[in-house]
Amino acid sequence: MSTYTEQSRRKVTTTRIREMKAAGEKIACLTAYDFTMARLVDAAGVDFILVGDSAANVMMGYETTLPISLDDMITFARGVVRGVERALVVVDLPFGYYQGCPDKALESAVRIMKETGASAVKLEGGAEIRESVERILAAGIPVCAHLGLTPQSVNQFGGYGVRAKGDSEARKLIENAELLQDLGCFAVVLEKIPAALANEVTARLSIPTIGIGAGSGTDGQILVVQDMLGMNEGFKPKFMRHFGQIGQAVTAAVGSYVSEVKNVTFPSDRECY
Ligand code: KIV
Repeated sequence: MSTYTEQSRRKVTTTRIREMKAAGEKIACLTAYDFTMARLVDAAGVDFILVGDSAANVMMGYETTLPISLDDMITFARGVVRGVERALVVVDLPFGYYQGCPDKALESAVRIMKETGASAVKLEGGAEIRESVERILAAGIPVCAHLGLTPQSVNQFGGYGVRAKGDSEARKLIENAELLQDLGCFAVVLEKIPAALANEVTARLSIPTIGIGAGSGTDGQILVVQDMLGMNEGFKPKFMRHFGQIGQAVTAAVGSYVSEVKNVTFPSDRECY
C-alpha cells in the first residue's frame, strides 16, 4: 500500500478522486482560468481544478455565465492545463453547447479534450441532459455532473437563491444524482442546497459529491478562486470565506507603483542598464 506522501504527489485522475471518497479523504477543489493561477493553485495541493464557466463572470465581466463560448472556454483551459502538474483538470461545457443535442454535446466535449489536454468535462443538469451525458461517456470522456443551483438556468430559477428547499425539488435532486451516478459520472457538484440534503446525497452515492454552499458533509469543497482570495470583495454570499485579501494587496502594490512612476523613484539607478 502506498503512503500518504506518495499518494499526495501522484497525478490526480478520476479514479483517484473516487478512491478519495472510499478512503474518507476530503477533496479540495478550486477554479482557475489561466496558466499563472493554475500553477499556484496546483503547487498548493488542490486536487481538482475546474475551468468553470464562471470565467464569464470573473474573467470577462458578464452578469451571468450564459454568454461565454466554447472557444473562450478552450482558450482558458489551454493555459490552465499548461500550468498544472498534479491536479485533475475539468472543463465546463458552456451554455448552448450540449443542451438538447447529444451530437453537439459530444462534438463540444471532444473539442475540449483534443484542444486543451484536460481530463474531464462538467455539465449542468439531470435527466434532461441524459442523452448528452451518455454520448460523452460512451466516447471515453469522464463527466462530472452539477446539480442544485445550476447557474446556466438562472433565468428559469429567477435568481441565485438556495435550491431544493422543498420536498419535491429535493426528491428530484436525489433521483437525478442517482441517475447520473448510474450513467457513469465520476463525481457530482452540489451547489447552494441545504446541508442536510447534501449529506443525504453524499451518503447515498458511491461517487464523490463536491459542495459549494452545501455544508461540510460533502466529499469535497469547491470555490471560485478569485472569490476565496478576496479579489471580489463585493461578492460575499453566506457560504464564501475569504482565505486571503489579495484584492487589497494588488491595489496597494499597484498604488505604490503608480506613485513611484510619477515621482520618478522607479526605476532607480540599480534598475537601469
Ligand atoms: O463555473 C463554476 O465555477 C462552477 C463552480 C462554482 C462549481 O461551476
